[in-house]
Amino acid sequence: MTKRVLITGSSRGIGKAIALKLAAAGFDIAMHYYQNSDAANETKQALEQLGVSVSCLKFNIADRAAAKQAIEQDIEHHGAYYGVVLNAGINCDTAFPAMTASEWDSVVHTNLDGFYNVIHPTVMPMVQARQGGRIITMASVSGIAGNRGQVNYSASKAGIIGATKALSLELAKRKITVNCIAPGLIETDMVADIPQDMVNTIVPMRRMGKTSEIAGLANFLMSEDAAYITRQVISVNGGMI
Ligand code: NAI
Repeated sequence: MTKRVLITGSSRGIGKAIALKLAAAGFDIAMHYYQNSDAANETKQALEQLGVSVSCLKFNIADRAAAKQAIEQDIEHHGAYYGVVLNAGINCDTAFPAMTASEWDSVVHTNLDGFYNVIHPTVMPMVQARQGGRIITMASVSGIAGNRGQVNYSASKAGIIGATKALSLELAKRKITVNCIAPGLIETDMVADIPQDMVNTIVPMRRMGKTSEIAGLANFLMSEDAAYITRQVISVNGGMI
């Protein structure tokens, strides 16, 4: 039976690259998106051209009830996921003294609450399917080292790292691995405003990473070859830290 993977925020950016890579490897895809239906349709077509089956889920990952309903419905129709990639996330950068409560709340509710909202409804069906599995979360260099102007984002990503490690312990005996990818600067809309001068200063490799360089790692972690890797945070950052 084909294994199915849910990837949040997979209509664009890093999530899209992961979905395309996993589809090329033969995984069926549960493609989650939020607002951009045109991008979602385009990505869905590209995935289907790779010959895999694609289901679409649309919800705000900060909305617990909406996430639970959409995920439970998808599982009811298509069966448990083999893998989940918690990729969707936002940043809202500003120096901490100027940070509003809503800038704090929106980032933490989306990124960190997203962990509970998305992964919680998927776990028991994965366990009950008794086929092992893979959970991959997306942190950031900011969640490991902290970054100025990103107190909210760094907090949310550090929280994801802690949650990932704790969940890995609970699921290890079920042959479900739980790991975290921590990207540095990757060429997507999220970092479109960062000038090359700054990249040269903070990235030893003097370039941003490509989305395919994150997708390659996600594909490896999803594979049988990665069955003994769990509770890890793996950085892909051109030597930033
Ligand atoms: P992006 O902005 O291109 O994509 C983010 C995705 O998350 C989009 O598909 C968007 O629809 C989805 N999303 C955002 N808020 C959502 C919500 N409330 N509900 C549902 N979906 C929502 O960004 P990118 O770069 O592809 O980011 C993907 C992940 O990688 C994020 O978690 C981000 O924090 C992380 N990351 C990115 C880095 C970069 O340099 N691009 C560096 C480190 C981490």
